[in-house]
Amino acid sequence: MARDKVILAYSGGLDTSVAVKWINEKYDLDVVTFTCDLGQGRDIDKIKEKALRTGAVDAVIEDDRNMFVDFFVWPSLMAGTMYEGKYPLATALGRPLIAHRMVEAAEEHGAVAVAHGCTGKGNDQVRFDVSFQTLAPQLKVIAPVREWKWTRTEELNYAKEHGIEVEATKESIYSVDQNLWGRSVEAGVLEDPWVAPPEDAYRWTTNPLEAPDKPVEIEIEFEQGRPVGLDGEELDAVVLIERLNEIGGQHGVGRIDHVENRLVGIKSREIYEAPAAVILHDAHRELEFLTLSRQSLRFKSYVSQAVSDIIYDGLWFAQFHQDLMGFVEKNQRFVTGVVRVQLYKGTCTVVGRKSEHSLYSKELATYEEGDEFPHETAIGFIKIHGLAQQTQARQQLLKSEPTIRPARIMPPSKEKS
Ligand code: ARG
Repeated sequence: MARDKVILAYSGGLDTSVAVKWINEKYDLDVVTFTCDLGQGRDIDKIKEKALRTGAVDAVIEDDRNMFVDFFVWPSLMAGTMYEGKYPLATALGRPLIAHRMVEAAEEHGAVAVAHGCTGKGNDQVRFDVSFQTLAPQLKVIAPVREWKWTRTEELNYAKEHGIEVEATKESIYSVDQNLWGRSVEAGVLEDPWVAPPEDAYRWTTNPLEAPDKPVEIEIEFEQGRPVGLDGEELDAVVLIERLNEIGGQHGVGRIDHVENRLVGIKSREIYEAPAAVILHDAHRELEFLTLSRQSLRFKSYVSQAVSDIIYDGLWFAQFHQDLMGFVEKNQRFVTGVVRVQLYKGTCTVVGRKSEHSLYSKELATYEEGDEFPHETAIGFIKIHGLAQQTQARQQLLKSEPTIRPARIMPPSKEKS
């Protein structure tokens, strides 16, 4: 009789390869691996072959790069999400997509469970589990790495005993995850937040000190908040991001060093490389400064922060997320135009912007000929603007200060009698 099936998120690395065998043995399930291309730069046909050699009964591979950009990356760019103002959320954006596709694969294959190779210490387990639990609560979730709690040596021994290929070149001393939107690097010497990241932590970006001496200037076109072209050429979204990663990387742009607050309550030191994300966020924000009102910009910054936390915390499929994105989509309808960006030795500087919906008015701003600003009405405006403060100063600030009673948030303990 055929065994029940599980869909395992499979990267082709050691953990998930060992997981194929381990799930077979421990749970007596047939493993169907699932691998999608989100632009992580690995050959997924090879990954498929490896999965089958390792004992998977079937190996699903698919190219989800367009879906990733259209439904995850662009909306997050439009929302202006940078976790804690620094991390463009590449990994966090990939997880709900993978979970969603795995749930669909589970349905197609009649699987009873889904599995992933996340540890019990990170955010990714939360993102996967919460997404599975939301989209398909009937599926059992198996997380081998979280369960087996092995040291690396123990894991290598298991691999050896079970004839699982271990790549000869010791992959890396770091833990790395990457997709189109960025690369994250943790562990090894990076665990000391005082230690400067060694050059070998970086793969996508040139050291800014060694980047070309000549700056390069690029023009990015946006339509309703979405990037659509580069230097006057309309481009496929995936290609656009790849090109910016390439050119930004050459100029050393997109290195991020962050001591980050994980959802599970710890701080961790992370290195990111995300040239395209950094360039596009900078350019997009500048176009917003040109096309959104002051009020709209202020409110948007709250929304950006809320959406960043939602994405980071693995709550992608929350109704509240959808509601906030309703605002974002509406708010972006005039964010159309072109931004000129200069890349130079690790910096990304916006040096020009234009839009058919620009709110910048030369006639109002100029100090030269043709000034249309109503100077005479400024006096009345200022009078009213300062009125409340004037009253307050007379009644309070300019009088002698009353002494302050200290505010305490803990009541004293009752005396024991
Ligand atoms: N700290 C980042 C996040 O939580 C990156 C995680 C990278 N994941 C990994 N499995 N190495 O989104």
